[in-house]
Amino acid sequence: MTSSTQPGSRDPFAAFACDDPTLDALRAAAGAMGFAPEKCLRADLRGAVQSLSVAPSPAILVIDLSECSDPLNEIVALEEVCEPGTVVIALGRVNDVRLYRQLIASGIHDYLLKPVAVTQLSEALTQARTALAVPRASEQDGAREHTAIAVVGTRGGVGASTLATSLAWLFGEEHKRTVALLDLDVHFGTAALSLDLEPGRGLIDAIADPGRIDGLFLERAMTRASERLAILSAEAPIGTGLTSDGEAFVQLEREFRQAFDMTVIDLPRSMLMNFPQVLAEVKFVILVAELTLASARDTIRLLSWLHSHAPEAQPVVVANKVAAGSSEIGQAEFEASIEQKIGHSIFLDTKSAIAAAKFGQSLAEAGNAAKTGATLRAIAASLASGAQHKAGSGEPTTASSLLARLDWKALLNRKQAAVPARSAPAS
Ligand SMILES: Nc1ncnc2c1ncn2[C@@H]1O[C@H](COP(=O)(O)OP(=O)(O)OP(=O)(O)O)[C@@H](O)[C@H]1O
Ligand SMILES: [Mg+2]
Repeated sequence: MTSSTQPGSRDPFAAFACDDPTLDALRAAAGAMGFAPEKCLRADLRGAVQSLSVAPSPAILVIDLSECSDPLNEIVALEEVCEPGTVVIALGRVNDVRLYRQLIASGIHDYLLKPVAVTQLSEALTQARTALAVPRASEQDGAREHTAIAVVGTRGGVGASTLATSLAWLFGEEHKRTVALLDLDVHFGTAALSLDLEPGRGLIDAIADPGRIDGLFLERAMTRASERLAILSAEAPIGTGLTSDGEAFVQLEREFRQAFDMTVIDLPRSMLMNFPQVLAEVKFVILVAELTLASARDTIRLLSWLHSHAPEAQPVVVANKVAAGSSEIGQAEFEASIEQKIGHSIFLDTKSAIAAAKFGQSLAEAGNAAKTGATLRAIAASLASGAQHKAGSGEPTTASSLLARLDWKALLNRKQAAVPARSAPAS
């Protein structure tokens, strides 16, 4: 439905919605965009298909899936009555990233969750208009493949940002790819800081007004770290809450796909849970862990969450700050508990980390000559080639069965036995 065929002489816009509040919002948004509000009619998907079967389909079409019991199958009927080039925005009540992903894969341009606000509709219509004017990257001649990677720390401070920045830097320097590094730690992000750059306010502006995100916006809002690496980040004032429905992030990723070869997202756990749609187009999710009990527990929980909420994304577990003989749990125990092999291990390398901080470099650059550099290069190479495979014994099952396999008591007892008994304080 989103081919680049020009819409020709047909109506620029039509919308069908099942209820009055949605129709009111649609009419207001349409009017503000210069579309005829009377083109907003009351109908469910079946009614919309009937109307469209007797008239040419409009260039931009809004449909309402909220009364569909099986939206993905029912939407097939729409394809038969829509001409190529129609940009379809679907509305619905089901908040499920899998449905979102499947709808996008079936050619739907956007999916908005009801109830919809006028501003949301205006943004979606603005983007639809842009999509009509600009063919998508996949439709351009010689379109390059884009790879998006998210890096998530299983616990705070495990080194997720360090790894995200290093990978982004390596993709640019070693693999000669153009890279967007999106730091979604809106208040406390360190991507820009670690490379000795100003964070700018690009991300804050994008969140405040997703409708303005386009190629030109990115050029102005992103901070250039090197010839091929650009960063979008913020250092939002503490105390300023984040008000977003996640549309800004999806729109940013869409623009990155047009403008860069790769996207690396530094994705805090809280953002992952609040905005799962960020992972819709992500190929690899790097779970950065430490060999600790807490990190093992949360790796299990995150693997399980990813399995049900982002089944298309491949999780890759990376153990960081590994120090021989001084981990809470051994690598074999960790792997047994998460039922998956650790994909890569990065050693604790305080010397390189200090050099990185001192010179405003990524750990990959500062530790280039050390083993750390070699490990990071190997991780980047396997991700860039897309050769990363889901290591280990297969798909994780449910959180409860995984948790059951982690023998917490035994691990804790061993841990306590390893701690020397404290001597009584001298009186
Ligand atoms: N392999 C390593 N060896 C030594 N130090 C490391 C290593 N990896 C990361 N660090 C250091 O650990 C600290 C925390 O790293 P980083 O900020 O990347 O963690 P994070 O998981 O992003 O934290 P947050 O939860 O705050 O987002 C930094 O000072 C970094 O230099
Ligand atoms: Mg971080």
